[in-house]
Amino acid sequence: LRVAVLASGRGTNLQALIEEWQNSFLPVEFVGVGSDKTDAYALVRAQEAGIPTAAFPKEGYPNREEQEKAIRDWLEDLNVQLLILAGYMKVFSPVFLKEVSYPIVNIHPSLLPSFPGLHAQKQALEYGVKISGCTVHFVDEGMDSGPIIMQETVPVFDEDTEDSLAERILKVEHEIYPEVIRLIAAGKVHRRGRKVHIHRDS
Ligand code: GRF
Repeated sequence: LRVAVLASGRGTNLQALIEEWQNSFLPVEFVGVGSDKTDAYALVRAQEAGIPTAAFPKEGYPNREEQEKAIRDWLEDLNVQLLILAGYMKVFSPVFLKEVSYPIVNIHPSLLPSFPGLHAQKQALEYGVKISGCTVHFVDEGMDSGPIIMQETVPVFDEDTEDSLAERILKVEHEIYPEVIRLIAAGKVHRRGRKVHIHRDS
């Protein structure tokens, strides 16, 4: 399975995927890592792993459509079969999604549909939930609204700060994202409308 990753930031989820792949637990080919931020540390992690990188900074394009088109062309040239978003901080336009034929997955640090969007951990703390976690889902036109593939929970403690909760959630993100990609690569993830079924022993 030819996969590409888009990331805007430090790339710890990318790192977790790379490590699984280096340990031969992930039967995929990382054909590229791209970013909308030239200085994203995720790009450094990719380069260190020998994966080709590309940057698509906003400043390099007359408008958002052209920036997206450049990303889409790059992915097409790579013959991508699965696009993984790992801390990619932009929502794709409906045009982008209509033009692409491969599935796109994302990871979000809350139990969706609770707390979509930015600062999910802060939203969870402010709401006062006792359990939070992370969600891997297919990407659709909405903000963190696509069909859910897998979720993992963590407890929320009274003394939690945004950072302590984020750190606890990140640990489970690093476990379930590689797991989901492995299941997709094995053809075990089946999407029927909003429902996603995982066939673990087929
Ligand atoms: C993660 O919390 C992920 O759930 C969210 O953005 C963050 C990215 O972290 N979408 P990293 O760049 O993978 O370290």
